[in-house]
Amino acid sequence: MTFFIKTFGCQMNVNDSEKIRHLLAAKGLTAAPEERADLIIVNSCAVRARPQEKIFSYVGRFPGAKKVIVAGCVAQAEKEAIFAKKVKVDYVVGTHQFCRIGEIVDELRAGGRPGTALAFTRKWQELVPGAAARSSAVTGYVSVMEGCDNFCSYCIVPFTRGREKHRPMAAILREAEYLAANGYREIVLLGQNVNHWHEPGGRRRFPDLLRRLARVPVPWIRFITSYPGYHEPELIEVMAAHRNIARHIHFPAQSGSTRILKRMNRAYSRSDYLAIVGAFRRAMPGMKFSSDFIVGFPGESERDFRLTLSLLDQVEYESVFSFIYSPRSRTKAAALAQEAPAALLKERLIALQERQAVIQLRNNLGRVGTTIDVLVCEAHPKKAGEMIGRSESYRVVNFVSRAPVGSFRRVKITGAGPHSLRGVECFS
Ligand code: SAH
Ligand code: SF4
Ligand code: F3S
Repeated sequence: MTFFIKTFGCQMNVNDSEKIRHLLAAKGLTAAPEERADLIIVNSCAVRARPQEKIFSYVGRFPGAKKVIVAGCVAQAEKEAIFAKKVKVDYVVGTHQFCRIGEIVDELRAGGRPGTALAFTRKWQELVPGAAARSSAVTGYVSVMEGCDNFCSYCIVPFTRGREKHRPMAAILREAEYLAANGYREIVLLGQNVNHWHEPGGRRRFPDLLRRLARVPVPWIRFITSYPGYHEPELIEVMAAHRNIARHIHFPAQSGSTRILKRMNRAYSRSDYLAIVGAFRRAMPGMKFSSDFIVGFPGESERDFRLTLSLLDQVEYESVFSFIYSPRSRTKAAALAQEAPAALLKERLIALQERQAVIQLRNNLGRVGTTIDVLVCEAHPKKAGEMIGRSESYRVVNFVSRAPVGSFRRVKITGAGPHSLRGVECFS
């Protein structure tokens, strides 16, 4: 039997797909392109309505002989909607159940009826995907916690990933060592609230984990996503003390208005957030930030929105993901009326993105003439003799080079746009 996995959503889904690929390969299934695969696994994301609709239309493309399994967050939260769509789905597998994928495939092969596996489990399920099952040979994902207890009023994730659970430090270190031994150059720790990690049943906290991980011989260590409400000052000390922890943090603010943050049930104010950013920058002057923002949360006034724009100006983010608020069933905010017209929401989104593009262009132009370290990620698909890499702050760098993927190069920056830098490899 051959399989194809289509992954939507965040890095945790990418990592879960790696685990599924590992389990299926261990069972003797082989990967195949979508059109030739006997089994399609759709690892889905439910975070906003639009991506969820994309998933339903993707699933609807396989009415024929192929077996179709819907896994991930839509599977977990929207079972009824999946079966109501009248698309052919053979199994629905939730976020805590993909470890059973082998048995489920056996059931389907034996001609079993459509079924679901949706229970949540409290215990961490240990599974390290082998290098062959991973999506990159350079960047290795390591899940350290899963789930969320915050219930931000707009967010479906607590319903799709369940309550927080944490992975033992020894297992995390083992996976990191495995990646280092297999030539990985970058480790990305994953969790919905990664900075809330603590040793199950123990006293160690996220800064302790990072301090220990920094001894693993990997040039860059990153972690996503940090919740500002769980920030601990010790994290800053640990980052400042270890040069292999990238000086860049994804630190979603969601809004620049304290009034809206309260309505979102975020546990920090604008000034708390700015105080943390300031503390990072005092300890590490080159520290860079990125963020997510939601535009048009119910009740957002023009003044609230302008506070978000001014937060962009104050923090000068490296990059920002921004979305128009999308009501999700079961969340608290779903009951709030959206009074703003769609056109106004769109206008605000564009205004935010334009403001951020100006900030990014200015900062990127400021780097022209400097020389920076770049991790070589892939050959440019269209331009011979060019490579695509990333800077420590996760900025895409296109540069003339023949350096092998996975190596670090010094690159002199010669040009800049809002989203990427251009450069040439330095040999001096
Ligand atoms: N745990 C992370 C967020 C995970 S969801 C955190 O707390 O920051 C990823 C992003 O999707 C969020 O940061 C938010 O900006 C966006 N998002 C989540 N729910 C949304 C909704 N209902 N409408 C629009 N954007 C949403
Ligand atoms: Fe969603 Fe909030 Fe949890 Fe992030 S912290 S996953 S936004 S509920
Ligand atoms: Fe989407 Fe689930 Fe990630 S809803 S953002 S795939 S945790």
